[in-house]
Amino acid sequence: MHPDLKEVLFTAEQIHARVQQMAERIAADYRDRDPVLVGVLDGAFIFLADLLRALPMQVRIDFVKWSSYGDRRTSSGVVQLVKDLSRNVEGEHVLVVEDIVDTGLTLRYLVANLRTRSVASLAVATLFDKPSRRKVEIEADYIGFQVPDEFVVGYGLDYAQRYRDLPYVGVLKPEIYGRT
Ligand code: XMP
Ligand code: MG
Repeated sequence: MHPDLKEVLFTAEQIHARVQQMAERIAADYRDRDPVLVGVLDGAFIFLADLLRALPMQVRIDFVKWSSYGDRRTSSGVVQLVKDLSRNVEGEHVLVVEDIVDTGLTLRYLVANLRTRSVASLAVATLFDKPSRRKVEIEADYIGFQVPDEFVVGYGLDYAQRYRDLPYVGVLKPEIYGRT
């Protein structure tokens, strides 16, 4: 385990198995429509890469990126689109791929934004969910794991751009926040 972590919540094997299960459910639900996966940068890129390879159908990918004016551990609720989709999604079956839903504010903005683009359908897959922190009522359609109210890193999730490369997900030691 990385020395900056307090504990590992999900091992690489557990994450892999769960992503395969999520892909099976998504494949069954989308058996007669090919989705466009819309990854939310930066955190979701590893999950999206693994999900994509676990899905048996043709999928297109695209990405969006939001900036959030908060400290580095929480979003302020004020989000701004800094990178929009590269292609038109009108008439497409859009599946948003998120790393973690925390307060739900980012997802609410994104869902509202995508709904204005006349998509054929819209659903959300998130690998992690922190329901205890929710500020707005919003739920993903596909959820990998629920996490406690702690700051987690690894498998794409960072703190100050670090720890994304860890193959597992764990809780950062609180003293690490004080250092940067
Ligand atoms: P909201 O609060 O808008 O936040 O649902 C979603 C975004 O906040 C980030 N976030 C985290 N990032 N560990 C992280 O590395 C966490 O525990 C965590 N909680 C929230 C993340 O970017 C997510 O997309
Ligand atoms: Mg994020």
